[in-house]
Amino acid sequence: MTVPHDNVLGMKCVLCGAEYRMDEHPYVCPRHGNEGILDVVYDYDYIRKRFSREALAQDRTPSIWRYLPLLPVADSAAIPPLPVGWTPLYPAHRLREQLGLRDLWIKDDGRNPTASFKDRASAVGVARARELGRPIMTAASTGNAASSLAGIAASVGMTTYIFVPETAPQAKIAQLLIFGANVIMVRGTYDQAFDLCLEASARYGWYSRNTAYNPYLSEGKKTASLEICEQLGWDAPDRIFVSVGDGCIIGGLWKGLRDLRALGWIERMPKLMGVQAEGSAVLYNAWKAGTEEITPIVPTTLADSISVGIPRDRIKALRAVRETGGEYITVSDEEILDAMRVLARSAAVFGEPAGVAAFAGLRKMLAEGRINPDEKIVVLVTGNGLKDVASAIKATGKPHLIDPTVGDLEALMRSLGHAAG
Ligand SMILES: Cc1ncc(COP(=O)(O)O)c(C=O)c1O
Ligand SMILES: [Zn+2]
Repeated sequence: MTVPHDNVLGMKCVLCGAEYRMDEHPYVCPRHGNEGILDVVYDYDYIRKRFSREALAQDRTPSIWRYLPLLPVADSAAIPPLPVGWTPLYPAHRLREQLGLRDLWIKDDGRNPTASFKDRASAVGVARARELGRPIMTAASTGNAASSLAGIAASVGMTTYIFVPETAPQAKIAQLLIFGANVIMVRGTYDQAFDLCLEASARYGWYSRNTAYNPYLSEGKKTASLEICEQLGWDAPDRIFVSVGDGCIIGGLWKGLRDLRALGWIERMPKLMGVQAEGSAVLYNAWKAGTEEITPIVPTTLADSISVGIPRDRIKALRAVRETGGEYITVSDEEILDAMRVLARSAAVFGEPAGVAAFAGLRKMLAEGRINPDEKIVVLVTGNGLKDVASAIKATGKPHLIDPTVGDLEALMRSLGHAAG
């Protein structure tokens, strides 16, 4: 089944620049094995004639699909019904006061239907599969991409086969199971699950939602940038902080910003600030060394969603930071747990460890005196804290436990320094 995509000129390989028609190769540029990530090239003249900021202002669609003319989906019947995206951007007043930042905003993507940013990509992936008439999808994931695919596929009755490492937190596994995915748990790392999933996709003909392999996922992820700029009245932020594992989110954010620059809808390019866990800092290392080549590692961080030893979207992720004048930053697990507490207690946004790593990065830069208090800063929270309650409890300690007697209550209150009134 072929649907004409009049807004798309074609696909371009990020490694060699080769250009293809949209229907020519389903995934990567065939010249580089699985590495030749393609980028969707839009016809901005065509889009500009049919889409405007004024039209958007009148549009009440509360989801990523308000940006349909900037997405690689032509058949609106293929769009899944779950409302994905259009998540809130909070003016975090208490945090602003505490941190001394006048223009700080928190975008809470834990408020997506399956509680993570990844719904943006899965929604576009599922829509593309439906346009292509592909009934079965597969993904390998540290957890969120998988649970999000499973949920969105469930909303349209699509079958999924999901590969996850044994170490994925229970809540994410529970989501997969409850959404009815076929869950294949791999005794190994995320990186091994990823390679096995690619093999399975080729062998059984399942449509792949693997990061940096399926080129349409970045397009879903870019919608967060479109939203941020629209929610700020098209006055783009100075910096956007985001946590980075494979690098697909940050690459997607950059794509959205480039779209807006090409359309002339924003006047400046925000600096993209990629935050990695110290134990999983492959892209940080490459950025620091000034290369696009990576040195794989065995990752060690409690932030499971960014625990990645071989970042698959390295090219887009490194260029996103370099070409916007941003930076890569690393944070320790301790700093991540600390950020989890502060964000929850001062802004009531409960993020999972990878979800708050971006905030930890901002706090670190602030402590180093490297942020001007007048800057307009957006911190993206990419996953909800209920996905990993074990880490939340690690960040906070246990509740008080007493017998149900007034005597015990009074003893506790005395120990806490509260006298009865
Ligand atoms: C909550 C959360 N934050 C951040 C990321 C990092 O995204 P990427 O791997 O595209 O860099 C992920 C990816 O799984 C995630 O689930
Ligand atoms: Zn190529």
